[in-house]
Amino acid sequence: MARKTKTPRWLEAARRRTGPVSPGARTDWLARALGRAGVMPRAEAEKAIRDGRVEVGGRVEREPFAPVHSGVEVRVDGQVRSMEAPLLVLMFHKPAGVVVAGTDPESVGTVFERLREVLPAELQCFEWYAIGRLDRDTTGLLLFTNDERVVQHGTSPDTHLPKRYVADVAGRPSEEALARLREGLVLDDGPTRPAGARLLGPERVELVLTEGRHHQVKRMLAAVGHPVRTLHREAVGTVVLDVPVGTWRKLSESEVSEGLGFNSTST
Ligand code: URA
Repeated sequence: MARKTKTPRWLEAARRRTGPVSPGARTDWLARALGRAGVMPRAEAEKAIRDGRVEVGGRVEREPFAPVHSGVEVRVDGQVRSMEAPLLVLMFHKPAGVVVAGTDPESVGTVFERLREVLPAELQCFEWYAIGRLDRDTTGLLLFTNDERVVQHGTSPDTHLPKRYVADVAGRPSEEALARLREGLVLDDGPTRPAGARLLGPERVELVLTEGRHHQVKRMLAAVGHPVRTLHREAVGTVVLDVPVGTWRKLSESEVSEGLGFNSTST
């Protein structure tokens, strides 16, 4: 069945106000643009807009999903704010026990809260998006960005960005089991792509996947008879985790372009 494409909320708001919006126009919705530019995170921006503290092109704007075109003057509390958004990508060493989700129904803490606790003031004002997910008990490299295009790039099934994991498993996988992991095996949501798989120790496996399906490493290793005991992500693309647990650093431009293969001018 063909999937229905959802119209973005900023585009609906733009159409309500201004009629058709040309497909190539660099238009965004106000609250999101404020978060991306580091003026204030999205939830805070939505409140500020509803409270009448934000002006766009000289008029108070109370609709968080109002379209904002590049070049228009935006003021917050009367001060002109730059809507130029730097492209930022951070690596964070995720500890075990925190969820990669905006809400935390089990009160175990979210990775967004953990990241904000250790970020300096100048980075607190951005909206941060996780590039993909890790399970609550998985540790290791999690990337964050202020630009949804990088999320799209990093999580698209078409990008095939390699992700390297190390899993401690039950039992010693045979050469035959490793060959099945490499060649691809059939999970309940379809066949897996060929993967890198090698033994690092008697009960330790390195897996390199070029896709990111739900619980994929755990499901693949369970399928060959070696359930995962602990799971750690070491690298995404050629970006290798090199900060202690619970800490972060900014990626360089070349890590973003060459390491992750993201080119901001071609998206
Ligand atoms: N595969 C998994 O099973 N879990 C993760 O957290 C990441 C990949």
